[in-house]
Amino acid sequence: MARKNTVQRVNHQRQLITHEEPKSPISEQYRTLRTNLQFSAVDTELRSIVITSSSPSEGKSLTTANLAVAFAQQGKSVLLIDADLRKPTVHYTFRINNTFGLSNLLIGEHTLEDCVTNSKVDNLDILPCGPVPPNPSELLGSRSMQKLIDTAKESYDMVIFDSPPVLAVTDSQVLANHTDGVLLVVRSKKTEKDAASRAKELLVQAKANVLGVVLNDKDTKEGEYFYYYGN
Ligand SMILES: Nc1ncnc2c1ncn2[C@@H]1O[C@H](COP(=O)(O)OP(=O)(O)OP(=O)(O)O)[C@@H](O)[C@H]1O
Ligand SMILES: [Mg+2]
Repeated sequence: MARKNTVQRVNHQRQLITHEEPKSPISEQYRTLRTNLQFSAVDTELRSIVITSSSPSEGKSLTTANLAVAFAQQGKSVLLIDADLRKPTVHYTFRINNTFGLSNLLIGEHTLEDCVTNSKVDNLDILPCGPVPPNPSELLGSRSMQKLIDTAKESYDMVIFDSPPVLAVTDSQVLANHTDGVLLVVRSKKTEKDAASRAKELLVQAKANVLGVVLNDKDTKEGEYFYYYGN
Protein backbone atom coordinates (compact mmCIF):
# COMPACT_ATOMS: atom_id res chain seq x y z
CA MET A 1 0.00 0.00 0.00
CA ALA A 2 1.33 3.43 -0.92
CA ARG A 3 2.38 5.60 1.95
CA LYS A 4 0.09 8.53 2.54
CA ASN A 5 1.78 11.76 1.55
CA THR A 6 1.93 14.30 4.34
CA VAL A 7 2.29 17.89 3.29
CA GLN A 8 4.38 19.95 5.70
CA ARG A 9 3.16 23.49 6.02
CA VAL A 10 5.13 26.18 7.77
CA ASN A 11 2.83 28.40 9.75
CA HIS A 12 4.04 31.95 9.29
CA GLN A 13 1.02 33.51 10.97
CA ARG A 14 2.04 35.60 13.94
CA GLN A 15 -0.15 37.30 16.48
CA LEU A 16 0.35 41.00 17.11
CA ILE A 17 -1.07 41.30 20.58
CA THR A 18 -0.54 45.06 21.06
CA HIS A 19 -2.75 45.64 18.02
CA GLU A 20 -5.27 42.84 18.49
CA GLU A 21 -5.63 43.03 22.28
CA PRO A 22 -4.38 46.46 23.31
CA LYS A 23 -5.99 46.21 26.74
CA SER A 24 -4.38 42.89 27.69
CA PRO A 25 -1.73 42.75 30.46
CA ILE A 26 0.86 41.72 27.89
CA SER A 27 0.20 44.82 25.78
CA GLU A 28 0.54 46.84 28.98
CA GLN A 29 4.00 45.33 29.46
CA TYR A 30 5.01 46.52 25.99
CA ARG A 31 3.82 50.00 26.92
CA THR A 32 5.94 49.79 30.07
CA LEU A 33 8.92 48.87 27.91
CA ARG A 34 8.16 51.90 25.70
CA THR A 35 7.96 54.21 28.72
CA ASN A 36 11.19 52.87 30.21
CA LEU A 37 12.96 53.41 26.91
CA GLN A 38 11.75 56.98 26.88
CA PHE A 39 13.01 57.48 30.45
CA SER A 40 16.35 55.93 29.56
CA ALA A 41 16.92 58.66 27.00
CA VAL A 42 16.01 61.85 28.83
CA ASP A 43 19.17 63.71 27.81
CA THR A 44 19.89 61.92 24.57
CA GLU A 45 17.99 61.60 21.35
CA LEU A 46 16.51 58.15 20.93
CA ARG A 47 15.05 58.02 17.45
CA SER A 48 16.55 54.81 16.07
CA ILE A 49 16.60 51.53 18.03
CA VAL A 50 17.86 48.07 17.12
CA ILE A 51 16.35 45.05 18.84
CA THR A 52 18.60 42.02 18.98
CA SER A 53 19.56 38.97 21.07
CA SER A 54 22.45 36.59 21.42
CA SER A 55 20.94 33.58 19.65
CA PRO A 56 18.05 32.53 17.37
CA SER A 57 14.38 32.36 18.45
CA GLU A 58 14.60 34.44 21.60
CA GLY A 59 11.81 36.82 20.62
CA LYS A 60 13.59 39.63 18.74
CA SER A 61 10.98 39.90 15.99
CA LEU A 62 8.03 39.57 18.34
CA THR A 63 9.41 42.28 20.63
CA THR A 64 10.28 44.57 17.70
CA ALA A 65 6.82 44.34 16.13
CA ASN A 66 4.94 44.92 19.39
CA LEU A 67 7.23 47.74 20.51
CA ALA A 68 6.77 49.45 17.14
CA VAL A 69 2.98 49.21 17.56
CA ALA A 70 3.24 50.54 21.14
CA PHE A 71 5.14 53.63 19.92
CA ALA A 72 2.66 54.14 17.05
CA GLN A 73 -0.27 53.92 19.47
CA GLN A 74 1.26 56.83 21.34
CA GLY A 75 0.80 58.94 18.20
CA LYS A 76 4.43 58.82 17.11
CA SER A 77 5.14 58.22 13.43
CA VAL A 78 7.07 54.97 13.35
CA LEU A 79 9.01 53.11 10.67
CA LEU A 80 9.71 49.43 11.35
CA ILE A 81 12.60 48.13 9.23
CA ASP A 82 13.24 44.42 8.77
CA ALA A 83 17.03 44.40 8.90
CA ASP A 84 17.15 40.66 9.42
CA LEU A 85 18.29 40.17 5.85
CA ARG A 86 18.89 36.48 6.53
CA LYS A 87 15.63 35.31 8.09
CA PRO A 88 13.07 38.09 7.60
CA THR A 89 9.65 37.74 9.27
CA VAL A 90 8.18 41.26 9.51
CA HIS A 91 6.21 40.80 6.27
CA TYR A 92 4.55 37.70 7.76
CA THR A 93 3.65 39.46 11.00
CA PHE A 94 2.06 42.41 9.19
CA ARG A 95 0.90 40.35 6.18
CA ILE A 96 2.46 42.63 3.61
CA ASN A 97 4.20 42.09 0.31
CA ASN A 98 7.96 41.52 0.44
CA THR A 99 8.75 41.98 -3.25
CA PHE A 100 10.61 45.24 -2.64
CA GLY A 101 12.31 46.29 0.53
CA LEU A 102 15.51 47.20 2.35
CA SER A 103 17.80 45.11 0.12
CA ASN A 104 16.56 46.85 -3.07
CA LEU A 105 16.98 50.20 -1.43
CA LEU A 106 20.53 49.53 -0.26
CA ILE A 107 21.72 48.59 -3.74
CA GLY A 108 20.22 51.80 -5.10
CA GLU A 109 17.42 50.18 -7.09
CA HIS A 110 14.59 52.01 -5.31
CA THR A 111 13.84 54.91 -2.99
CA LEU A 112 12.47 54.71 0.55
CA GLU A 113 9.03 55.87 -0.65
CA ASP A 114 8.99 53.07 -3.27
CA CYS A 115 9.56 50.34 -0.72
CA VAL A 116 7.69 51.52 2.40
CA THR A 117 4.21 50.08 3.00
CA ASN A 118 1.45 51.35 5.28
CA SER A 119 0.57 48.84 7.95
CA LYS A 120 -2.85 48.08 9.38
CA VAL A 121 -1.75 50.07 12.44
CA ASP A 122 -2.19 53.86 12.36
CA ASN A 123 1.12 55.79 12.33
CA LEU A 124 3.14 52.66 11.59
CA ASP A 125 4.92 52.14 8.25
CA ILE A 126 6.93 49.07 7.36
CA LEU A 127 10.05 48.60 5.28
CA PRO A 128 10.22 44.85 4.68
CA CYS A 129 13.47 43.01 3.95
CA GLY A 130 12.98 42.59 0.18
CA PRO A 131 14.82 39.80 -1.65
CA VAL A 132 17.37 38.10 0.64
CA PRO A 133 20.82 39.32 -0.52
CA PRO A 134 24.08 37.30 -0.50
CA ASN A 135 26.02 39.95 1.48
CA PRO A 136 23.87 41.29 4.37
CA SER A 137 26.67 42.58 6.66
CA GLU A 138 28.25 44.50 3.81
CA LEU A 139 24.92 46.08 2.86
CA LEU A 140 24.08 47.01 6.45
CA GLY A 141 27.50 48.63 6.93
CA SER A 142 27.32 50.56 3.66
CA ARG A 143 27.06 54.31 3.23
CA SER A 144 23.60 53.80 1.72
CA MET A 145 22.49 52.35 5.06
CA GLN A 146 23.69 55.39 6.96
CA LYS A 147 21.95 57.59 4.39
CA LEU A 148 18.75 55.59 4.78
CA ILE A 149 18.81 55.99 8.58
CA ASP A 150 19.30 59.75 8.21
CA THR A 151 16.47 60.04 5.66
CA ALA A 152 14.14 57.88 7.74
CA LYS A 153 14.79 59.99 10.84
CA GLU A 154 13.79 63.10 8.87
CA SER A 155 10.39 61.55 8.05
CA TYR A 156 9.63 59.53 11.19
CA ASP A 157 9.73 60.15 14.95
CA MET A 158 11.02 56.65 15.61
CA VAL A 159 12.84 54.08 13.45
CA ILE A 160 12.92 50.52 14.83
CA PHE A 161 15.05 47.70 13.41
CA ASP A 162 14.54 43.96 13.67
CA SER A 163 17.88 42.15 13.35
CA PRO A 164 19.62 38.74 13.40
CA PRO A 165 21.31 37.20 16.48
CA VAL A 166 24.53 38.87 17.64
CA LEU A 167 26.55 35.68 18.19
CA ALA A 168 25.71 34.28 14.76
CA VAL A 169 26.64 37.18 12.47
CA THR A 170 28.01 40.73 12.69
CA ASP A 171 24.90 42.41 11.21
CA SER A 172 23.43 43.59 14.53
CA GLN A 173 26.75 45.03 15.72
CA VAL A 174 27.11 46.93 12.45
CA LEU A 175 23.57 48.24 12.73
CA ALA A 176 23.83 49.08 16.43
CA ASN A 177 26.89 51.17 15.67
CA HIS A 178 24.84 53.33 13.27
CA THR A 179 21.79 53.82 15.53
CA ASP A 180 20.92 55.65 18.76
CA GLY A 181 20.50 52.55 20.92
CA VAL A 182 20.18 48.79 21.09
CA LEU A 183 17.94 46.56 23.20
CA LEU A 184 19.01 43.02 24.04
CA VAL A 185 16.28 40.40 24.33
CA VAL A 186 16.84 37.37 26.59
CA ARG A 187 14.35 34.53 26.73
CA SER A 188 13.47 32.94 30.03
CA LYS A 189 14.75 29.36 30.45
CA LYS A 190 16.45 29.54 27.04
CA THR A 191 19.13 32.19 26.80
CA GLU A 192 22.46 31.11 28.33
CA LYS A 193 23.92 33.64 30.74
CA ASP A 194 27.32 33.48 29.01
CA ALA A 195 25.73 34.00 25.60
CA ALA A 196 23.90 37.11 26.80
CA SER A 197 27.09 38.51 28.37
CA ARG A 198 29.09 37.81 25.23
CA ALA A 199 26.43 39.48 23.07
CA LYS A 200 26.51 42.55 25.28
CA GLU A 201 30.33 42.62 25.09
CA LEU A 202 30.25 42.48 21.30
CA LEU A 203 27.72 45.32 21.15
CA VAL A 204 29.81 47.45 23.51
CA GLN A 205 32.89 46.69 21.39
CA ALA A 206 30.96 47.95 18.36
CA LYS A 207 30.44 51.22 20.30
CA ALA A 208 26.71 50.62 20.51
CA ASN A 209 24.60 52.36 23.12
CA VAL A 210 23.20 49.35 25.00
CA LEU A 211 19.93 50.60 26.47
CA GLY A 212 18.98 47.54 28.49
CA VAL A 213 17.61 44.04 28.46
CA VAL A 214 14.11 42.72 27.76
CA LEU A 215 13.26 39.51 29.58
CA ASN A 216 10.91 37.67 27.27
CA ASP A 217 8.60 34.74 27.99
CA LYS A 218 8.85 34.86 31.75
CA ASP A 219 6.13 32.83 33.47
CA THR A 220 4.08 34.67 36.02
CA LYS A 221 2.04 33.04 38.78
CA GLU A 222 -1.08 33.56 36.69
CA GLY A 223 0.55 31.65 33.87
CA GLU A 224 1.07 34.72 31.72
CA TYR A 225 4.36 35.85 30.34
CA PHE A 226 5.44 39.40 30.84
CA TYR A 227 8.19 41.74 29.87
CA TYR A 228 10.66 43.34 32.15
CA TYR A 229 13.13 46.00 31.31
CA GLY A 230 16.13 46.93 33.37
CA ASN A 231 19.81 47.70 33.20
N1 LIG B 1 6.84 35.49 24.96
C1 LIG B 1 6.51 34.60 24.03
N2 LIG B 1 5.40 33.85 24.17
C2 LIG B 1 5.04 32.96 23.25
N3 LIG B 1 5.72 32.74 22.11
C3 LIG B 1 6.83 33.45 21.91
C4 LIG B 1 7.29 34.42 22.85
N4 LIG B 1 8.42 34.98 22.36
C5 LIG B 1 8.65 34.39 21.17
N5 LIG B 1 7.70 33.47 20.90
C6 LIG B 1 7.63 32.61 19.70
O1 LIG B 1 8.91 32.05 19.49
C7 LIG B 1 9.23 32.06 18.11
C8 LIG B 1 10.49 32.88 17.89
O2 LIG B 1 10.18 34.24 18.15
P1 LIG B 1 10.77 35.39 17.23
O3 LIG B 1 10.61 35.06 15.79
O4 LIG B 1 10.24 36.68 17.72
O5 LIG B 1 12.30 35.21 17.64
P2 LIG B 1 13.58 35.80 16.93
O6 LIG B 1 14.56 36.04 18.03
O7 LIG B 1 13.21 36.94 16.06
O8 LIG B 1 14.05 34.56 16.05
P3 LIG B 1 15.13 34.59 14.85
O9 LIG B 1 16.47 34.52 15.52
O10 LIG B 1 14.79 33.34 14.09
O11 LIG B 1 14.94 35.85 14.07
C9 LIG B 1 8.01 32.62 17.37
O12 LIG B 1 7.19 31.55 16.96
C10 LIG B 1 7.31 33.43 18.45
O13 LIG B 1 5.94 33.56 18.23
MG1 LIG C 1 13.52 37.29 14.02
